[in-house]
Amino acid sequence: MEDSAAIEAFIDEYLESGGRERNLVCALLAVQEKFGYLPPVGMEKLAGEFKLSPANVYGVATFYNQFRFKPPGRHNIHVCMGTACHIKQASKILDHFERRLEIKVGEVTPDGEYGLERVACVGCCTLAPVAVIDGEVVGKMSTSKIDGLMLRHQMERERENGAGKEAATARDDGEARE
Ligand code: FES
Repeated sequence: MEDSAAIEAFIDEYLESGGRERNLVCALLAVQEKFGYLPPVGMEKLAGEFKLSPANVYGVATFYNQFRFKPPGRHNIHVCMGTACHIKQASKILDHFERRLEIKVGEVTPDGEYGLERVACVGCCTLAPVAVIDGEVVGKMSTSKIDGLMLRHQMERERENGAGKEAATARDDGEARE
C-alpha cells in the first residue's frame, strides 16, 4: 500500500502541472491511474483542494463505476461477461476463479496476490469465453485452463521465493565472511 506522503506529493504535482484547471473527476482518475485505486487520504486531500467535504468527493467517486476503493491485486483477473462470453458459460469461469481463489468477484485475495473482476465485452468475442489476466487476453477459457494457470502462477511464486531465499543466504554468508 502506498504511503500518505507519496499520495499527497503526487496530488500536489498533478494540481501544479495544470490539474487545478481540470475537474474533480479528472483528478480522481489521475490518482487511480497512478495508484490503482482511490486511497482515502487521496480523496481527503482532493476534498481540501477542491473546497468540498470528503463525503462529497466520495459521493462523486461512487457515482462512477470505474473507480475502485481497494488496492488491486498484484495479478488482476478480469472475466468477460459480455453476451458472447455469457452464452459460452462465462459464469462457470467466474465461479471457478472464485472457488480457486476463495474470494468473490470484486475482491482481492488476503495476501494481495490476486484480484478478480467482471468486465463487459473486451472485443475478442470469437475467443469466448474470455478472461484478461494482467492485461493479456486468454481465450477459450475452461476450468482446466484456469487450473493450469493457477498451477503455473504457484510454481513461479515458489521459484521466486526460492531465488529470494538463496540470494538472502548468499548475502548472509558473504557478510559473515567479512
Ligand atoms: S463478449 Fe466477451 S469478448 Fe466480447
